[in-house]
Amino acid sequence: MLTEVQIRLVKSTVPLLESAGVAVTEYFYNRMFNVQPELLDIFNMSNQRSGRQQFALFSAVASYARHIDDLAALREVVERVANKHTSLFIQPEHYDIVGYHLIATLQELAPDAFTAEVVEAWTAAYALLAGILSGREQQLYTEKRSATGGWYGPRTFKVISKTMESELVCSLVFAPVDGQPVLDYLPGQYLGVKVKPVLAANIEIRQYSLSNQANGQTYRISVKRETLPQPGLVSNFLHDEVQVGDLLELLPPAGDFYLQAQSAPTVLISAGVGLTPMLAMLETLVAAGQNTPVWFLHACENRAQHSFTSRLHSLAQQQDNLQQHYWYQQASSADLQTGQVTAGLMDLSALQHQLPLQQGQFYLCGPAGFMQFVKTQLLQLGVAANSIHYEVFGPHQAL
Ligand SMILES: Cc1cc2nc3c(=O)[nH]c(=O)nc-3n(C[C@H](O)[C@H](O)[C@H](O)COP(=O)(O)OP(=O)(O)OC[C@H]3O[C@@H](n4cnc5c(N)ncnc54)[C@H](O)[C@@H]3O)c2cc1C
Ligand code: HEM
Repeated sequence: MLTEVQIRLVKSTVPLLESAGVAVTEYFYNRMFNVQPELLDIFNMSNQRSGRQQFALFSAVASYARHIDDLAALREVVERVANKHTSLFIQPEHYDIVGYHLIATLQELAPDAFTAEVVEAWTAAYALLAGILSGREQQLYTEKRSATGGWYGPRTFKVISKTMESELVCSLVFAPVDGQPVLDYLPGQYLGVKVKPVLAANIEIRQYSLSNQANGQTYRISVKRETLPQPGLVSNFLHDEVQVGDLLELLPPAGDFYLQAQSAPTVLISAGVGLTPMLAMLETLVAAGQNTPVWFLHACENRAQHSFTSRLHSLAQQQDNLQQHYWYQQASSADLQTGQVTAGLMDLSALQHQLPLQQGQFYLCGPAGFMQFVKTQLLQLGVAANSIHYEVFGPHQAL
């Protein structure tokens, strides 16, 4: 435990961490990667270059420092980060490395504020958080190792099918080469995919949501080809290089975004490739056979980019209580004639008398701007903030 004085010292330096700009975080990562180049195989190098992960780590540490005397407030964050970390196979010894370089960075860049006393307080505070995160990660590793079909660390899978679902999205189905079952997952969770793209200097790990219902034998992901502002390393590798029969490594399913209750009216809201976790949730709800009222609301660019249309059609045949509505930025008159498509951005006002605004659970996935736009509409319609759940396909950000 930290002493009162240590808590005060840590809190007094929060503004310093919060205002740490890219220069500070860059200094930290350069310092750490120079000494521990093997960590380049864990961190997403594109996120490093665009500055996104650098922000996530420092803002997490600052937010932790703000709550150092009220750790319960961090429960949700810990769950999300620990899940993400397990998909990257992060180990307790990594915490010592990160902690060492983090504190050394602060000491070197702000020697006046980081006196010996402050450094001591920070060392204790970091050890406390590292212990909480790492402890939860060990629990998750143990659970996943001991469950049916479970495993620990990277496991080799073979690509057994590859299918285009729309212009930009392809699905890959993986079966383990050991021929054993695979761990079930909660609909909405993701896998860690570990590959060495031809164009990448290092091994890269990315998370991909499982896009179908758990079946105990195989996993399916559905990947959008990322092209802007420059070709994404892993998505283009999976689209262009990885073929049926190829082997790659997967980390077990993880994630804190999943279907909460199968009996509650459920509204699945997505844009673009954000429909992947929604499809897993929808398949699970349909298979449960409870005829739960479900709304599948999806926005995309146009018909050519609308993934899984025939699968959605066949699910609608199995579930009377499923309503589908689509918004295309570019809708043709043929699209509009289907009666299911509206032109333009997702505007929920037309559905406000149908949606289960009071009793429903709302799940959002898509670009952050889209989710922000939809969340604002939901709150204005009277949906409670704690009935809105969302997943960011990248380093987490608050909506
Ligand atoms: C929980 C979770 C679930 C996900 N589920 C899915 C899913 O189901 N389907 C799916 O397709 N994706 C999903 N993703 C996203 C996926 O993990 C990858 O982030 C995505 O495929 C892009 O990876 P990449 O290696 O192709 O691109 P990266 O190389 O990582 O690049 C990412 C983005 O950064 C840009 N970029 C690269 N370098 C720079 C630079 N120097 N400066 C500025 N920008 C740069 C790229 O153009 C690209 O837009 C999920 C992510 C998370 C966290
Ligand atoms: C107390 C220490 C740590 C804190 C507070 C922390 C916090 C975070 C946060 C907030 C995220 C983003 C999570 C999200 O997107 O939902 C993250 C992601 C990540 N963390 Fe940590 N982390 C810590 C330690 C570590 C360690 C020890 C490592 C490994 C050396 C590590 C590697 C990563 C990586 C690789 C990602 C994903 C980054 C990306 O996709 O670019 N973290 N961490």
